[in-house]
Amino acid sequence: MSSRGEVYLPSESRRSGSHVPSMDAYRKMHADSLADPEKFWRDVYRQFHWETPYTDFHSYNFDRSQGPVSIKWLEGATTNICYNLLDRNIKLGHGDRIAYYWEGNDPDDYSRLTYRKMLEEVCRFANVLKSKGVAKGDRVGIYMPMILEAVVAMLACARIGAVHSIVFAGFSSDSLGDRMHDCKCKVMITVDYAYRGEKLLKLKAITDQAINRCTSLGHKVESCIVVKHLPRLAASMNCTNGEAAHLEEVANEVPWDDDRDCWWHLEMEDADTSCYPVWVSAEDPLFMLYTSGSTGKPKGVLHTTGGYLMYAATTFKYVFDYKPGDVYWCTADIGWITGHTYVVYGPLANAATSVIFEGTPFHPGHDRFWSVIEKYKVNQFYTAPTAIRALMKFGDEPVKKHCLRSLKVLGSVGEPINKEAWLWYYERIGNKNCSIVDTFWQTETGGHVLTPLPGCTPMKPGSATFPFFGVEPVLLDEEGHLIEGPGEGYLVFKRPWPGMMRTLFGNHERFEETYFSRFQGYYATGDGARRDEDGYLWVTGRVDDMLNVSGHLMSTAEVESVLAEHPGVAEAAVVSRPHKVKGQCLYCFVTPQSSQAFDASFISQLKTQVREKIGPFASPDVIHLAPGLPKTRSGKIMRRILRKIAVNDRNIGDTSTLADESVVAALFKTRPADV
Ligand code: WT7
Repeated sequence: MSSRGEVYLPSESRRSGSHVPSMDAYRKMHADSLADPEKFWRDVYRQFHWETPYTDFHSYNFDRSQGPVSIKWLEGATTNICYNLLDRNIKLGHGDRIAYYWEGNDPDDYSRLTYRKMLEEVCRFANVLKSKGVAKGDRVGIYMPMILEAVVAMLACARIGAVHSIVFAGFSSDSLGDRMHDCKCKVMITVDYAYRGEKLLKLKAITDQAINRCTSLGHKVESCIVVKHLPRLAASMNCTNGEAAHLEEVANEVPWDDDRDCWWHLEMEDADTSCYPVWVSAEDPLFMLYTSGSTGKPKGVLHTTGGYLMYAATTFKYVFDYKPGDVYWCTADIGWITGHTYVVYGPLANAATSVIFEGTPFHPGHDRFWSVIEKYKVNQFYTAPTAIRALMKFGDEPVKKHCLRSLKVLGSVGEPINKEAWLWYYERIGNKNCSIVDTFWQTETGGHVLTPLPGCTPMKPGSATFPFFGVEPVLLDEEGHLIEGPGEGYLVFKRPWPGMMRTLFGNHERFEETYFSRFQGYYATGDGARRDEDGYLWVTGRVDDMLNVSGHLMSTAEVESVLAEHPGVAEAAVVSRPHKVKGQCLYCFVTPQSSQAFDASFISQLKTQVREKIGPFASPDVIHLAPGLPKTRSGKIMRRILRKIAVNDRNIGDTSTLADESVVAALFKTRPADV
C-alpha cells in the first residue's frame, strides 16, 4: 500500500488568517518549542492568573534507571483553574458572552449560559460542596448526562481544590462502584433519570447500587447530590396526558436515603453566589479519569493543574483555529478525556462559545448532528470516526437537508479514521472547504499530541500528520533502536509536554511499569505508527492489535481500512487468529451495507481487495458476517471479544462495558460453518 497517498491542501480562503499560516511557520514554532520550552510556554503562562509565580519552570525524569519517573511543570506557582476560566474572562469583559448553548436530547429542550451566570452557579455549588465537608484534595464522583450542571459540578470542585472523578453515565453499577472505591470518593453527584435517544436511564438507582457495592468493599460515600432532571425533560417532551402522568410517577419513585441524599436544587436555593477560590499548587491534582488497562483493573489517570491549563488552552486555540465569536461543538461526553479537555477546560480557557449536547446522532432523526450545526451555525465540529461511519450509512439525504456553510474545521478523534470516512467527512460535510484535523492523543496525554493544524498542514486522509508544539515523537523498533526516516515501529515520546498525566492514582509503580518499562527513557503510547517519505505520521493502531502473518508485520487497522473502502461494507473489524503455518492469520468481521448481499462473490471481492491493496500475505482467511460489532459505550470495538469469537471460545469473560451485549450471541450464530 502506498504510504504517500493524496495530499489535500487547505483551501485558499481558509489559509488566510489562521493562527499558524504556513508549514514554515509551524516548523519554526515547533522547533522553538523544543529548543527552549520555557520561552515558548512563558507566553502562554502570562495569559493566565498565577497567585504566586513559578520558581522552577520544568523538570522531569523518564528514565527509571535514574530514579523514579517524575514530571513537573511550574513548581512554586499557585493558581486556580476555575478562576482562570471564569473570573479572569469576566474581568476581560466577556461576562455576557455565551459559554454554552445546551441542546437537550429532545430538540425542543435547549438553553444557554453566559460566563457571568456560570460563575454564579459554580460558586453556589462550590459552597454546597463545602457544606458537605468537601475540602482541598478530596475526591468527588460525578455520574451525569451531558447537562450544564455537570460542567458546574466539575468547576465547583476545581474552585475549592477538590479532585473530580467522572465516570461515563453508561457504565454499569459494578464499574461505577469499583471506581468509587478505588478513588475513595467522599461525595457523589448524579441525576434522577436521563434520556438517551428513546431509552430512559435510571442513573440514581444505578448510583445507589454502586454506592452499596463501594460500601461492601469497605469505603463509605458520605453524601449524594441529585439533580432533578426528569420533570424538566418531561415538560419539553410533548407527552400525552397519560405519558406525563406515568413520567411523574416514575419521577416520584427515585430511590432515596434521607441520611445521605439531597436534591441539587434545594441545596442551591440558599447557597451564597460568591466563593473565594482556593489557590492550589500547579502540581496539585485537578482530576482523575479511569481508562481501561490491557490487564487488571482500570487505571486512574491523574492530571494536575498548571501544565494542564496551559496545554488544554493552547491545543484548543491552535488545533481548532478558534477565533472570538466562533461557535464550537465537540460531541464527546464529559465522561471521557475528550469531554474534559475539549468540552470544558480548553474552550473555557479561551473564552469560547460551545454547544453541549445531551442527545444522540440518531434521535429524533439521522440528521440530528447536521440540524444542530445549522441551528447554532457551528464553525468547528469535533466527533469520532465511529459516528461518521454510522452516519455515512444513511447516505447524503439527511446531510442535504441542512445548511452546513458555517463549518470551517472538522475534527476526528479516538481511532484511526479510514479513508472512506475521511473523504465523506471532507466532501459531504465540509464541502471540500474545511480542514480536517485527525487528532491523535490519549486519556494519558491530556491533550492532542499529533495533529494537523487548520489552514496550515497539507492533509493526507488517515494521517495524524505532525506533533503539536512541545511534543517530540520517536519511532522505535523491537529492540528499542531509533527508526529515522520512513519506517514503522512503536510510537513513543521522548519528553513530557505540560498536559501529560503525572501518575496513576495511588499506584506510581503501575504508572512506571505500564508506560516507562518497555523502552528505557521514553513514554510508550502502546500504539504503533509509520512515518512516510514526507515525514507524515500514520498511527497504525494499538501495538497489541498488531499482527504478524508469515513474518509480515501489519496492523488490524490497515486491513480494516481497506475492507471499508469496498462500497458494500458498512464497517469492518479485524483480529488475528493463530495459524499453523503463517503464525497468525487475519480473521475479519464485516458488517455489509443494507443493500449488499453477503454471498460468495462479495467475500471473494473483499479478499481480492485486501490482497491488492496490501499484499498477497495479507489475504484474509476468514470473512465473518457481522450483524453488529461489540463496542464499548464510547464506540471502541472490543477486539478482545472478537478474538475469542474467532477461535470459537465461548469463555469471553466480562462483557459489562459493552454498549449492547446481545451482539456477542449474534456473532457466535453467524460464525462461518467451515472455520
Ligand atoms: C487510544 C487512546 C484521545 C481521546 C479519546 C480516546 C486511539 C485516539 C486516534 C487517532 C488513531 C487514535 C489510540 C490511542 N486513538 N485518537 N486520531 N488516530 N488512533 O482516548 O480512550 O485514552 O484511547 O485511542 O489507539 O492510544 P483513549
